[in-house]
Amino acid sequence: MRDDEIGPALLDWYDRYARVLPWRVGPDERRAGVRPDPYRVWLSEIMLQQTTVAAVRDYFRRFTERWPDVRALAAAEDGEVMAEWAGLGYYARARNLLKCARAVVADHGGRFPDGREGLLALPGVGPYTAAAIAAIAHGEPATVVDGNVERVVARLFAVETELPAAKPELTALAARLTPAGRPGDHAQAMMDLGATICTPRNPACGLCPLRPTCKAVRQGIAVDLPRKAPKKVKPVRHGIAYVGRRADGAVLLERRPERGLLGGMLGWPGTAWAVEPPAHTPPADADWQSVPGDVRHTFTHFHLILSVMTAELPATPLPGSGIFLPRGDFRPSDLPTLMRKVYDVAAATFPDD
Ligand code: ADE
Repeated sequence: MRDDEIGPALLDWYDRYARVLPWRVGPDERRAGVRPDPYRVWLSEIMLQQTTVAAVRDYFRRFTERWPDVRALAAAEDGEVMAEWAGLGYYARARNLLKCARAVVADHGGRFPDGREGLLALPGVGPYTAAAIAAIAHGEPATVVDGNVERVVARLFAVETELPAAKPELTALAARLTPAGRPGDHAQAMMDLGATICTPRNPACGLCPLRPTCKAVRQGIAVDLPRKAPKKVKPVRHGIAYVGRRADGAVLLERRPERGLLGGMLGWPGTAWAVEPPAHTPPADADWQSVPGDVRHTFTHFHLILSVMTAELPATPLPGSGIFLPRGDFRPSDLPTLMRKVYDVAAATFPDD
């Protein structure tokens, strides 16, 4: 198989085996003239960054039911969008999502720009997302390179350079495979192949349409590629989270600052997260009690161990910062995963009420 036969072989495979995904216009619909909606393409690609298809499905469905187009999303309240995003992680994506929706409405009349350059100027849209929207929504011959595509290309061409240094080389090779026709389907086919057949640990090479041309298979090194530079060991940080409740069931929460981890999300008041276990600095005077069991959570650059303290808080005075959320308005699912874990550990000690 020559390099210029790879694209067509992949599209043949995609026509038969494309995954059915809620944001996808599949190959049959595409042929029938259905055009992908740039709003749905953009929203799904932002959600899928650092997150699996399985995790994104329900979020995508809820978002598009509640905010069916970019104008609806642009008009949404920040807190509601952050609550709907809770659990997906990497919360800067959600803040940029809103900024981007508002920019599309304010600066582009509610239509996503179609050139890669115009897309790149939008908040939260980097080279990957710009290429994905250009190819999938607008049919431009942009090359889309995510982790799946890097793996497929590293194996096809037996690239032994380690990631991340190999990125430019892999991107250039991926560009060679991008056909002028059906670039959006090609991009999605590469991603599907990487997600379903050319998988990291157990590639199903026997089912792969590109097996005849795969250099890694020929050399018996498919599972070893792409090679990766050793990961740095993550440091551990410690903190205390305070779950305070009033007698009427209202809970004390605070909106975290826009900048920084979990920015813009609701969370429990707490200490800073530091390498040394911090001193007890509660948000209000009360009889704070330690709860058995730590909360463990891993961020991109460190592991976090939080101890949890609970107290019943007096109705007055109000603490300096934070908001009492009435019991009926409090939904643990509105919290980011770390803060939900804290709640679960605290709630295990609450009397049934
Ligand atoms: N992962 C990220 N974007 C994707 C897409 N459009 N199709 C399949 N997998 C993806």
